[in-house]
Amino acid sequence: MSKKQVIIDFGDGRKVELPVFDATLGQNVVDMRNLGKYGYWSYDPAFLSTAACESKITFIDGDAGQLFYRGYPVEQLAEHSTHLEGAYLLLNGELPTQKEKDDFEREITLHTMLNDQIYSLFKGFRRDAHPMAMVTGVVGALAAFYPDSFYFKDPKIRKISIQRLIAKMPTLTAMCYRYTYGLPFMFPQNKLNYAENFLYMMFATPCEDYVVNPVIAKAFDRILLLHADHEQNASTSTVRIAGSSGTHPFSAVAAGVACLWGPSHGGANEAVLKMLTEIGDESKVDEYVAGVKDKKYRLMGFGHRVYKNTDPRASIMRKTCYEVLEVLGKKDDPLFKLAMKLEQVALSDDYFISHKLYPNVDFYSGIILRAIGIPDSMFTAVFALARTVGWLAQWQEMITEPDIKISRPRQLYTGSVARNYVPIEQR
Ligand code: CMC
Repeated sequence: MSKKQVIIDFGDGRKVELPVFDATLGQNVVDMRNLGKYGYWSYDPAFLSTAACESKITFIDGDAGQLFYRGYPVEQLAEHSTHLEGAYLLLNGELPTQKEKDDFEREITLHTMLNDQIYSLFKGFRRDAHPMAMVTGVVGALAAFYPDSFYFKDPKIRKISIQRLIAKMPTLTAMCYRYTYGLPFMFPQNKLNYAENFLYMMFATPCEDYVVNPVIAKAFDRILLLHADHEQNASTSTVRIAGSSGTHPFSAVAAGVACLWGPSHGGANEAVLKMLTEIGDESKVDEYVAGVKDKKYRLMGFGHRVYKNTDPRASIMRKTCYEVLEVLGKKDDPLFKLAMKLEQVALSDDYFISHKLYPNVDFYSGIILRAIGIPDSMFTAVFALARTVGWLAQWQEMITEPDIKISRPRQLYTGSVARNYVPIEQR
């Protein structure tokens, strides 16, 4: 706790001194917990100024455009690490030793299969169901297969529950794609790594040998790592709020998946591709940007609640985008050229500069995913697969706090005052 205090003068002779807690990085916070005793709540819709928890996992420096997992800059991790090593780091607080890494990867690999009943569950979905509707349903349904995970206070049960979900997400995500197109489900292959296995389950067929392109697998792994956690965003906060009731961890994560679907959050990369398709041609970019400035619509893949400078993930994705398109011989892809023209126009326009609107990670990730062959409707599901790690790390941090309380915000009520029921014939 800091020596500083914030004094609130209620104007009626009463004053309260609120303690200030020091952050190791970023803004300090005022402890508002006792404010209610003085007859006031703090009012902060959409949590613009509220720290809803204490966390040691991820830190975003929005002004500097930096992102750290457990103190490590994400650029360094993207260069040297992998999604599963990042997962270990986010979950355990430290980078693993070689043995810890090997053991963790092995444990994840051994849990990639799904209960056979899940295959029947898929058959209940319409073929044209949005993959996010299926992912939300299947992750929620997993709670029915692992009732023991409800006893997550036991560290052993907690550990295996976390490993199970991280392991099964690629399998069930790939199944959503296969189901939509009527393709047979492919079983995971233990000889493949996490990213390779997902690409195999997406694109292999039982009739042919399938070799995963290592450049594509590396790029895909990087996409997963860059999306693994992002502090207290909407879906993570949803997981924390759901989890605060003591619910089953897979149910809490299913709530996070549902939240992620929205176009202001995880749905943005799908929305970017929709926008590019709508624009259609480089010659229409200026007209489209004019519409954004007239506030007819937003430029998808631009702007961020926290980053008011470049999104560090976007810079890495941009580079990765070039690498992948090069390998696939798609550098002249009209959609990519259109995206680059849009980026260039927006970055040199006063509206975007003055509003501090820079491309975010989703501006580029959709282009890479589409180039790899992943359909637009699957983009958010891939994001959910990656973010599962962060959701579980944040959930674990919360439920292992000594004094966990159910999340229960207050409100500013502006509805009718108390009144008596009026019988229908008198209304
Ligand atoms: N295009 C045009 N104008 C924008 C945009 C945009 N993408 N984003 C914000 N603005 C303007 C907005 O109109 C407002 O202008 P003014 O002050 O003149 O009224 C100002 O910027 C502030 O907007 P805001 O809605 O208060 O900003 P926010 O921080 O609440 O919004 C955001 C953050 C991500 C929802 C928003 O930037 C947005 O809608 N972006 C497009 C969707 C998108 O790409 N989302 C992915 C975010 S990154 C993935 C993730 O981490 O989940």
